[in-house]
Parts: sequence; structure tokens; C-alpha cells
Amino acid sequence: SQIKEVEFVKSSGRAKDCPKDDRPEFAILGRSNVGKSSLINALVRKKEVALTSKKPGKTQLINHFLVNKSWYIVDLPGYGFARASDAARTDWSSFTKGYFLNRDTLVAVLLLIDASVPPQRIDVDCANWLGRNNIPMTFVFTKCDKLKASKGKRPDENIRDFQELIRENYKQHPAWIMTSSVTGLGRDELLLHLSQLRNY
Ligand code: GTP
Ligand code: MG
Repeated sequence: SQIKEVEFVKSSGRAKDCPKDDRPEFAILGRSNVGKSSLINALVRKKEVALTSKKPGKTQLINHFLVNKSWYIVDLPGYGFARASDAARTDWSSFTKGYFLNRDTLVAVLLLIDASVPPQRIDVDCANWLGRNNIPMTFVFTKCDKLKASKGKRPDENIRDFQELIRENYKQHPAWIMTSSVTGLGRDELLLHLSQLRNY
């Protein structure tokens, strides 16, 4: 399940511009700044495959990366970036939702949730939207290395609170994995999980 080779294929502004290909793919989705690009870099063990930045809203397109010439990781724009223009936000919902609903080769969405903060309404809404549309997903909790903020809770407590909030909406609770792009926590578990999903 290890990654030997990653090749950037293309950035697409619309779902219908995505690569025409039947190889399976996984989309990385989450709030702006949750650590999507960092997770891709950590999986791949390279610093600059997906561009990371401290400035939210950096990834604005659907970015396809081909792994081991056999499957794709897709980096998507973050949602919930308050400072993006209204036009940019509207654009997100139409083109990203179009991608989810129409991409036949999409095996699962990896929904990234920041474990260093309490459950966020927008993440719960997103999980429920995917669930309602029968789009398979895995919760990938990020930043699990972070110590709790002075009055905050620990990552494992935030994770438990999030799971509790969405529980009633799912007959079968989505799979979930704790990760850190800093320590490498969850890296092997996630790669194994992806290889199992590909081989169904
Ligand atoms: P957008 O592309 O803007 O939507 O952001 P993104 O989700 O791709 O986030 P990105 O990977 O650029 O990371 C945002 C910030 O969080 C950066 O400052 C990262 O260094 C930091 N970060 C990402 N992952 C982790 C993690 O596992 N632990 C810690 N401590 N910080 C992280
Ligand atoms: Mg990014």
C-alpha cells in the first residue's frame, strides 16, 4: 500500500474538465486550513507535491495527482473560507458538488476534520450532505499532535464530541482515522485503508 510515485496530472476548474480516466480516486475535502495539502504531502513524503500555505484559500481548483500510475488523490478547494468573495464561494458549491455527484470513479471522500478545535457546524453539515447523497466517506481527523488550547479540549475529546453529533444521522458510522502531518500518526493506517477500499 506504499506510495512509490506521484505525478501531478492537472488542475480543473470544472467537474467536466477532470481527467477522462477509469482509474479509482479519493477526494480530499475539508475546511480551509484543516491540513488537506499537508496530509497529501505527508502521505507522499514530499514537501511540495500539493502547495501548502498558512494563508487559507490557497487551493482553488480540483487538482488530480496520479499515484503509482494506478489511482488518484484529488486535492479540492477548502470550504468555509469566510474571506473568499461571494462569487468564489458560490462557485465552490456548484462545481465541487457537481464533482461529487457525477464523478463515477470516486471511491470515497476523505473528509478532513481539525481535531484541535471543537466540532464545527460546517463540518457536520458537510458530513450530512455527503451522507444524504450516499457518497462514501472516511473521517480523517487532522492535527492530532496539537496540545489542547488553554481552555479547550484534547484532540481525542473533540473527536468524540464530533462523532456524537453526527451519530444519529448514520445507520453505519463512517470509518475514521486519527492523523498528524507533523508526526506521521495515522499515515500507514490511512494508506492501508485506501488500498482496502480500492480492492473492494
Ligand atoms: P487550503 O488549501 O487553504 O484549503 O488549506 P489546507 O487544508 O490545504 O491546509 P494546509 O495543508 O495548507 O495547512 C494549513 C496550516 O495548518 C499550515 O500552517 C500547516 O502547517 C498546518 N498543519 C497542517 N497539518 C497539520 C498537522 O497535522 N499538525 C499541525 N500541528 N499543523 C498542521
Ligand atoms: Mg490546500
